[in-house]
Amino acid sequence: MSVKICLAGGTGWAGSALSCGIFEAPDLQLTAVISRKHAGQVLGEVLDIKGLDTPIFGSVGEALSSKPDVFVEYTQPDAAKSHVLSALNGGTHVVVGTSGLSDNDYQEIDEAAQKVQRGVLAVGNFALTVVLMQKFAEIAARYIPHWEIIDYAHSAKIDAPSGTALELANRLSAVRESQLDVPLEKMHGPRESRGARLDGSQVHSVRLPGYAISLDVIFGMHEQKLVLRHESGSSAEPYVDGALIAIRKVRGLVGVHRGLDSVMDF
Ligand SMILES: NC(=O)c1ccc[n+]([C@@H]2O[C@H](COP(=O)([O-])OP(=O)(O)OC[C@H]3O[C@@H](n4cnc5c(N)ncnc54)[C@H](OP(=O)(O)O)[C@@H]3O)[C@@H](O)[C@H]2O)c1
Repeated sequence: MSVKICLAGGTGWAGSALSCGIFEAPDLQLTAVISRKHAGQVLGEVLDIKGLDTPIFGSVGEALSSKPDVFVEYTQPDAAKSHVLSALNGGTHVVVGTSGLSDNDYQEIDEAAQKVQRGVLAVGNFALTVVLMQKFAEIAARYIPHWEIIDYAHSAKIDAPSGTALELANRLSAVRESQLDVPLEKMHGPRESRGARLDGSQVHSVRLPGYAISLDVIFGMHEQKLVLRHESGSSAEPYVDGALIAIRKVRGLVGVHRGLDSVMDF
């Protein structure tokens, strides 16, 4: 029996690549897509793919009538939480690819997921190279107490910091907080110049034309430093394989789990 999937944002930049990935996977079935602009159309017409006859709905309520096993949220930060809560109340497991949800949002989502005994797998970045960078950073943080995170993106990216930066800060907080030799309250000058203190890491976001998506985490020690850098290309392909892993694994979970590595073997 194939897994039935509803993909919110299946016509977007990241979502359309995932739509194709699901369409090509023999064990998965894309039963509904959500997009406000293309509601009423068939996905294959929009993406120009023959045989992709998934209907497009304008709202979560309508899309859930297809009774999906897994709901994938891939739209925008403003809409994501209410979509996820509606999907859980509709009885589906949920994969969240949308960035910009806060720890408080995830706490609320976790309570809702526990209540209905469904899993939510939230992954700030599905790319395997990012998952590995996170793992390497966690190891580095065990040995090096000072680090800062810088995320770079094009000027139109609406959320800051990126989901990848937020997720990395959150994961490093499980190791320890980064050490600040001059505490923020004792520094001279505007505090914003030191970035935001998030989950015990200093996080800086650069938003400029000319950048795609990349992230540095810099670990500093006396007379030496380690820079872990991740760079994405311009297509959404790197995110597809990881999202398919998340879709296949989420049905075995209850409550919120963050990061793809939570369902991978290392
Ligand atoms: N986790 C990862 O690995 C990863 C990778 C790439 C991107 N992302 C994140 O994924 C999200 C989407 O990125 P993107 O670049 O694909 O955006 P995008 O190209 O703007 O696509 C957004 C999609 O969501 C739909 N949408 C937007 N608002 C909606 C709403 N209120 N209700 C229903 N549908 C809505 C859009 O269709 P309509 O406008 O027609 O409604 C469109 O299909 C962002 O948060 C981005 O940061 C995560």
